[in-house]
Amino acid sequence: MSYLEATNTLYKEAALTPDVGLCCTTNPIWELPGLKIPRIMQEMNYGCGSTVHARDLTNNPKMLYVGVGGGMELLQFSYFNRQKGGVIGIDVVDEMLEASRKNFKEAEEQNDWFKSEFVELKKGDAMNLPVEDNSIDVAAQNCLFNIFKAEDLKKAIAEMYRVLKPHGRLVMSDPTCEQPMNDELRNDDRLRALCLSGSLPIAEYVKALTDAGFGTIEIRARKPYRILDPKNYPTDELIYIESIEVAAIKDPMPADGPCIFTGKAAIYYGDDDYLDDKAGHVLLKNQPLAICDKTAGALQALGRNDIYFSESTFHYDGGGCC
Ligand SMILES: C[S@@+](CC[C@H](N)C(=O)[O-])C[C@H]1O[C@@H](n2cnc3c(N)ncnc32)[C@H](O)[C@@H]1O
Repeated sequence: MSYLEATNTLYKEAALTPDVGLCCTTNPIWELPGLKIPRIMQEMNYGCGSTVHARDLTNNPKMLYVGVGGGMELLQFSYFNRQKGGVIGIDVVDEMLEASRKNFKEAEEQNDWFKSEFVELKKGDAMNLPVEDNSIDVAAQNCLFNIFKAEDLKKAIAEMYRVLKPHGRLVMSDPTCEQPMNDELRNDDRLRALCLSGSLPIAEYVKALTDAGFGTIEIRARKPYRILDPKNYPTDELIYIESIEVAAIKDPMPADGPCIFTGKAAIYYGDDDYLDDKAGHVLLKNQPLAICDKTAGALQALGRNDIYFSESTFHYDGGGCC
Protein backbone atom coordinates (compact mmCIF):
# COMPACT_ATOMS: atom_id res chain seq x y z
CA MET A 1 0.00 0.00 0.00
CA SER A 2 1.40 3.46 -0.88
CA TYR A 3 1.49 6.27 1.68
CA LEU A 4 -1.36 7.95 -0.20
CA GLU A 5 -3.53 4.84 0.06
CA ALA A 6 -2.66 4.61 3.78
CA THR A 7 -3.74 8.25 4.13
CA ASN A 8 -7.05 7.56 2.40
CA THR A 9 -7.68 4.57 4.68
CA LEU A 10 -6.93 6.62 7.80
CA TYR A 11 -9.31 9.41 6.78
CA LYS A 12 -11.99 6.95 5.75
CA GLU A 13 -11.84 5.64 9.36
CA ALA A 14 -11.82 9.21 10.70
CA ALA A 15 -14.93 9.98 8.63
CA LEU A 16 -16.81 6.91 9.83
CA THR A 17 -15.75 7.27 13.49
CA PRO A 18 -14.88 10.84 14.50
CA ASP A 19 -11.54 10.92 16.33
CA VAL A 20 -11.37 13.99 18.57
CA GLY A 21 -7.62 13.79 19.26
CA LEU A 22 -6.57 13.07 15.68
CA CYS A 23 -5.02 16.42 14.79
CA CYS A 24 -5.18 18.12 18.16
CA THR A 25 -5.48 21.84 17.60
CA THR A 26 -4.40 24.56 19.99
CA ASN A 27 -6.57 26.96 18.06
CA PRO A 28 -9.72 28.41 19.53
CA ILE A 29 -12.83 27.73 17.47
CA TRP A 30 -13.84 30.86 15.55
CA GLU A 31 -16.89 32.44 17.17
CA LEU A 32 -18.71 34.93 14.95
CA PRO A 33 -22.06 36.64 15.48
CA GLY A 34 -24.80 34.25 14.37
CA LEU A 35 -22.40 31.41 13.55
CA LYS A 36 -22.90 28.12 15.39
CA ILE A 37 -20.48 25.28 14.73
CA PRO A 38 -22.22 21.91 15.25
CA ARG A 39 -20.50 19.71 17.83
CA ILE A 40 -19.80 16.99 15.26
CA MET A 41 -17.82 19.49 13.17
CA GLN A 42 -15.76 20.42 16.22
CA GLU A 43 -15.13 16.73 16.94
CA MET A 44 -14.00 16.28 13.35
CA ASN A 45 -11.70 19.28 13.38
CA TYR A 46 -8.60 17.59 11.98
CA GLY A 47 -6.68 20.79 11.31
CA CYS A 48 -3.83 22.36 13.25
CA GLY A 49 -4.53 26.08 12.92
CA SER A 50 -7.03 28.30 11.16
CA THR A 51 -7.16 29.20 7.49
CA VAL A 52 -10.11 31.54 7.99
CA HIS A 53 -8.94 35.15 8.17
CA ALA A 54 -11.65 37.79 7.80
CA ARG A 55 -9.33 40.17 5.95
CA ASP A 56 -8.96 37.67 3.07
CA LEU A 57 -12.69 37.33 2.70
CA THR A 58 -14.12 40.64 1.57
CA ASN A 59 -16.22 41.15 -1.61
CA ASN A 60 -17.80 37.68 -1.78
CA PRO A 61 -14.69 35.76 -2.81
CA LYS A 62 -14.99 32.52 -4.75
CA MET A 63 -13.39 29.98 -2.43
CA LEU A 64 -11.88 26.52 -2.73
CA TYR A 65 -11.13 24.20 0.19
CA VAL A 66 -9.10 21.05 -0.38
CA GLY A 67 -9.33 18.22 2.18
CA VAL A 68 -12.73 18.99 3.73
CA GLY A 69 -12.62 16.94 6.95
CA GLY A 70 -15.83 17.49 8.94
CA GLY A 71 -16.51 20.75 7.06
CA MET A 72 -15.97 23.25 9.89
CA GLU A 73 -13.78 25.66 7.98
CA LEU A 74 -16.01 25.47 4.89
CA LEU A 75 -18.93 26.57 7.08
CA GLN A 76 -16.78 29.41 8.44
CA PHE A 77 -15.80 30.43 4.89
CA SER A 78 -19.46 30.29 3.80
CA TYR A 79 -20.24 32.84 6.51
CA PHE A 80 -18.35 35.37 4.39
CA ASN A 81 -19.97 34.45 1.05
CA ARG A 82 -23.55 33.35 1.41
CA GLN A 83 -24.12 32.26 -2.16
CA LYS A 84 -24.81 29.00 -3.94
CA GLY A 85 -21.47 27.36 -4.73
CA GLY A 86 -19.52 30.14 -2.99
CA VAL A 87 -17.18 27.51 -1.57
CA ILE A 88 -16.01 24.47 -3.53
CA GLY A 89 -14.97 21.62 -1.22
CA ILE A 90 -12.78 18.83 -2.57
CA ASP A 91 -11.80 15.54 -0.97
CA VAL A 92 -10.48 12.25 -2.30
CA VAL A 93 -12.24 10.14 0.37
CA ASP A 94 -15.92 9.36 -0.37
CA GLU A 95 -16.73 8.77 3.28
CA MET A 96 -15.33 12.19 4.24
CA LEU A 97 -17.42 13.89 1.57
CA GLU A 98 -20.47 12.03 2.85
CA ALA A 99 -19.75 12.89 6.50
CA SER A 100 -19.28 16.58 5.73
CA ARG A 101 -22.47 16.60 3.62
CA LYS A 102 -24.34 15.30 6.67
CA ASN A 103 -22.63 17.86 8.90
CA PHE A 104 -23.67 20.72 6.60
CA LYS A 105 -27.31 19.57 6.97
CA GLU A 106 -26.89 19.84 10.73
CA ALA A 107 -25.26 23.27 10.33
CA GLU A 108 -28.30 24.32 8.30
CA GLU A 109 -30.55 23.48 11.25
CA GLN A 110 -28.41 25.48 13.68
CA ASN A 111 -27.71 28.53 11.48
CA ASP A 112 -30.67 30.24 9.86
CA TRP A 113 -28.42 32.08 7.36
CA PHE A 114 -26.69 28.88 6.10
CA LYS A 115 -27.79 26.63 3.23
CA SER A 116 -25.94 23.43 2.28
CA GLU A 117 -25.95 24.65 -1.33
CA PHE A 118 -23.43 27.34 -0.35
CA VAL A 119 -20.85 24.51 -0.44
CA GLU A 120 -20.33 22.56 -3.65
CA LEU A 121 -18.69 19.26 -2.67
CA LYS A 122 -16.69 17.43 -5.34
CA LYS A 123 -14.65 14.28 -5.30
CA GLY A 124 -11.11 15.03 -6.39
CA ASP A 125 -7.45 14.84 -5.66
CA ALA A 126 -5.29 17.71 -4.42
CA MET A 127 -2.80 16.76 -7.12
CA ASN A 128 -5.33 17.02 -9.92
CA LEU A 129 -8.03 19.49 -8.94
CA PRO A 130 -11.34 19.38 -10.84
CA VAL A 131 -11.37 23.18 -10.96
CA GLU A 132 -10.89 25.66 -13.82
CA ASP A 133 -7.72 27.73 -14.23
CA ASN A 134 -7.71 31.25 -12.75
CA SER A 135 -11.16 30.90 -11.18
CA ILE A 136 -10.60 31.11 -7.40
CA ASP A 137 -10.04 34.13 -5.13
CA VAL A 138 -9.17 32.29 -1.92
CA ALA A 139 -7.99 28.67 -1.77
CA ALA A 140 -7.30 26.87 1.49
CA GLN A 141 -5.97 23.63 2.91
CA ASN A 142 -5.41 22.72 6.52
CA CYS A 143 -3.14 19.88 7.64
CA LEU A 144 -3.08 18.10 4.28
CA PHE A 145 0.01 19.27 2.40
CA ASN A 146 2.39 18.29 5.21
CA ILE A 147 1.43 14.66 4.54
CA PHE A 148 2.67 14.81 0.95
CA LYS A 149 6.16 13.74 -0.09
CA ALA A 150 8.22 16.26 -2.09
CA GLU A 151 7.02 15.45 -5.64
CA ASP A 152 3.37 15.25 -4.59
CA LEU A 153 3.67 18.47 -2.59
CA LYS A 154 5.05 20.18 -5.68
CA LYS A 155 2.08 18.98 -7.75
CA ALA A 156 -0.46 20.00 -5.09
CA ILE A 157 1.00 23.52 -4.78
CA ALA A 158 1.16 23.87 -8.57
CA GLU A 159 -2.52 22.93 -8.77
CA MET A 160 -3.47 25.59 -6.22
CA TYR A 161 -1.42 28.13 -8.16
CA ARG A 162 -3.13 27.14 -11.42
CA VAL A 163 -6.70 27.56 -10.13
CA LEU A 164 -6.13 30.88 -8.35
CA LYS A 165 -6.90 34.16 -10.10
CA PRO A 166 -4.01 36.64 -10.35
CA HIS A 167 -3.50 38.10 -6.85
CA GLY A 168 -5.64 35.30 -5.41
CA ARG A 169 -4.41 33.75 -2.18
CA LEU A 170 -3.70 30.29 -0.88
CA VAL A 171 -4.23 30.17 2.88
CA MET A 172 -2.82 27.21 4.74
CA SER A 173 -2.04 25.70 8.09
CA ASP A 174 0.41 22.83 8.52
CA PRO A 175 2.83 21.37 11.04
CA THR A 176 6.49 22.33 10.54
CA CYS A 177 9.64 21.03 12.16
CA GLU A 178 13.11 22.56 12.33
CA GLN A 179 14.82 19.33 13.43
CA PRO A 180 15.88 16.56 11.05
CA MET A 181 13.72 13.44 11.18
CA ASN A 182 15.14 9.97 10.52
CA ASP A 183 13.99 7.83 7.58
CA GLU A 184 12.03 5.48 9.79
CA LEU A 185 9.83 8.38 10.90
CA ARG A 186 9.69 9.93 7.43
CA ASN A 187 8.66 6.64 5.80
CA ASP A 188 6.08 5.59 8.40
CA ASP A 189 2.90 5.94 6.34
CA ARG A 190 0.60 6.10 9.34
CA LEU A 191 2.64 8.77 11.18
CA ARG A 192 2.76 10.79 7.95
CA ALA A 193 -1.00 10.49 7.50
CA LEU A 194 -1.43 11.57 11.13
CA CYS A 195 0.44 14.81 10.29
CA LEU A 196 3.35 13.82 12.54
CA SER A 197 6.29 12.91 10.36
CA GLY A 198 6.00 14.75 7.05
CA SER A 199 6.58 18.28 8.23
CA LEU A 200 9.31 20.50 6.76
CA PRO A 201 11.33 23.35 8.23
CA ILE A 202 9.60 26.70 7.61
CA ALA A 203 12.21 27.84 5.07
CA GLU A 204 11.72 24.68 2.96
CA TYR A 205 7.94 24.99 3.17
CA VAL A 206 8.14 28.60 2.01
CA LYS A 207 10.58 27.69 -0.78
CA ALA A 208 8.13 25.12 -2.12
CA LEU A 209 5.60 27.97 -2.43
CA THR A 210 7.91 30.52 -4.02
CA ASP A 211 9.30 27.87 -6.41
CA ALA A 212 5.71 27.48 -7.66
CA GLY A 213 5.61 31.20 -8.46
CA PHE A 214 3.87 32.81 -5.46
CA GLY A 215 5.44 36.29 -5.24
CA THR A 216 4.26 37.19 -1.72
CA ILE A 217 4.27 34.99 1.37
CA GLU A 218 2.88 35.88 4.78
CA ILE A 219 3.63 33.85 7.90
CA ARG A 220 0.70 34.66 10.10
CA ALA A 221 1.09 32.37 13.09
CA ARG A 222 3.60 29.94 14.59
CA LYS A 223 2.59 27.77 17.51
CA PRO A 224 3.64 24.69 19.47
CA TYR A 225 2.07 21.51 18.05
CA ARG A 226 3.47 18.13 19.16
CA ILE A 227 6.41 16.24 20.62
CA LEU A 228 7.75 12.96 19.25
CA ASP A 229 9.55 11.31 22.14
CA PRO A 230 11.87 8.27 22.07
CA LYS A 231 9.54 6.22 24.29
CA ASN A 232 6.60 6.41 21.90
CA TYR A 233 8.14 7.02 18.49
CA PRO A 234 11.10 5.63 16.53
CA THR A 235 13.49 8.45 17.37
CA ASP A 236 16.57 8.76 19.60
CA GLU A 237 15.95 12.39 20.38
CA LEU A 238 12.97 14.47 21.35
CA ILE A 239 11.47 16.15 18.29
CA TYR A 240 9.49 19.35 18.66
CA ILE A 241 6.83 20.09 16.02
CA GLU A 242 5.17 23.45 15.51
CA SER A 243 2.30 24.54 13.33
CA ILE A 244 2.18 27.61 11.13
CA GLU A 245 -0.46 29.59 9.32
CA VAL A 246 0.70 30.88 5.95
CA ALA A 247 -0.78 32.81 3.05
CA ALA A 248 0.82 32.53 -0.39
CA ILE A 249 -0.37 35.26 -2.74
CA LYS A 250 -0.33 34.88 -6.51
CA ASP A 251 1.40 38.21 -7.01
CA PRO A 252 3.91 38.39 -9.86
CA MET A 253 7.39 37.31 -8.75
CA PRO A 254 9.47 40.47 -8.18
CA ALA A 255 12.69 40.59 -10.22
CA ASP A 256 14.73 40.56 -7.00
CA GLY A 257 12.89 37.60 -5.50
CA PRO A 258 9.76 36.96 -3.40
CA CYS A 259 8.49 39.17 -0.57
CA ILE A 260 8.39 36.95 2.49
CA PHE A 261 6.81 38.55 5.53
CA THR A 262 7.82 36.84 8.76
CA GLY A 263 6.78 39.66 11.07
CA LYS A 264 9.86 41.89 10.98
CA ALA A 265 9.59 45.66 11.38
CA ALA A 266 12.00 48.57 10.93
CA ILE A 267 11.86 51.69 13.11
CA TYR A 268 13.74 54.80 12.00
CA TYR A 269 15.00 56.94 14.91
CA GLY A 270 17.33 59.41 13.16
CA ASP A 271 17.34 63.22 13.07
CA ASP A 272 14.81 63.73 10.25
CA ASP A 273 11.05 63.33 10.25
CA TYR A 274 11.31 60.37 7.91
CA LEU A 275 13.73 58.26 5.93
CA ASP A 276 13.10 57.54 2.25
CA ASP A 277 15.27 54.68 0.97
CA LYS A 278 14.37 55.61 -2.67
CA ALA A 279 13.38 52.00 -3.20
CA GLY A 280 9.75 52.46 -2.28
CA HIS A 281 9.99 52.53 1.52
CA VAL A 282 9.33 55.59 3.63
CA LEU A 283 10.01 55.12 7.34
CA LEU A 284 8.30 57.74 9.50
CA LYS A 285 10.29 58.63 12.58
CA ASN A 286 9.58 56.27 15.46
CA GLN A 287 6.82 54.43 13.58
CA PRO A 288 7.29 50.71 12.98
CA LEU A 289 7.06 49.73 9.32
CA ALA A 290 6.33 46.06 8.62
CA ILE A 291 8.95 44.84 6.17
CA CYS A 292 9.55 41.64 4.27
CA ASP A 293 12.79 39.76 4.90
CA LYS A 294 14.22 40.98 1.57
CA THR A 295 13.64 44.64 2.48
CA ALA A 296 15.08 44.02 5.95
CA GLY A 297 18.25 42.74 4.29
CA ALA A 298 18.42 45.72 1.89
CA LEU A 299 17.90 48.29 4.67
CA GLN A 300 20.45 46.56 6.90
CA ALA A 301 22.94 46.64 4.03
CA LEU A 302 22.74 50.47 4.10
CA GLY A 303 24.81 50.19 7.29
CA ARG A 304 22.97 53.03 9.07
CA ASN A 305 22.93 53.35 12.83
CA ASP A 306 19.52 55.00 13.06
CA ILE A 307 17.22 52.11 12.08
CA TYR A 308 16.14 49.44 14.53
CA PHE A 309 15.22 46.02 13.12
CA SER A 310 12.91 43.78 15.14
CA GLU A 311 13.21 40.00 14.92
CA SER A 312 10.67 37.89 13.00
CA THR A 313 7.58 37.45 15.15
CA PHE A 314 6.04 34.92 12.71
CA HIS A 315 2.78 36.74 13.36
CA TYR A 316 2.53 39.04 10.35
CA ASP A 317 -0.89 40.65 10.16
CA GLY A 318 -0.79 42.98 7.22
CA GLY A 319 0.46 46.37 6.14
CA GLY A 320 3.98 47.50 5.44
CA CYS A 321 6.35 47.51 2.51
CA CYS A 322 6.34 46.06 -1.05
C1 LIG B 1 -5.84 16.11 8.33
S1 LIG B 1 -7.38 16.07 7.51
C2 LIG B 1 -7.79 17.79 7.56
C3 LIG B 1 -9.25 18.05 7.38
C4 LIG B 1 -9.66 19.51 7.44
N1 LIG B 1 -8.84 20.31 6.56
C5 LIG B 1 -9.60 20.06 8.86
O1 LIG B 1 -8.84 21.03 9.10
O2 LIG B 1 -10.29 19.53 9.72
C6 LIG B 1 -6.97 15.79 5.80
C7 LIG B 1 -8.14 15.81 4.85
O3 LIG B 1 -7.65 15.69 3.51
C8 LIG B 1 -8.33 14.66 2.82
N2 LIG B 1 -7.36 14.12 1.83
C9 LIG B 1 -6.39 13.20 2.01
N3 LIG B 1 -5.68 13.03 0.88
C10 LIG B 1 -6.21 13.86 -0.04
C11 LIG B 1 -5.92 14.16 -1.39
N4 LIG B 1 -4.92 13.55 -2.04
N5 LIG B 1 -6.69 15.06 -2.05
C12 LIG B 1 -7.72 15.69 -1.41
N6 LIG B 1 -8.04 15.45 -0.13
C13 LIG B 1 -7.31 14.55 0.55
C14 LIG B 1 -8.74 13.69 3.93
O4 LIG B 1 -9.81 12.87 3.53
C15 LIG B 1 -9.11 14.66 5.03
O5 LIG B 1 -10.43 15.15 4.86
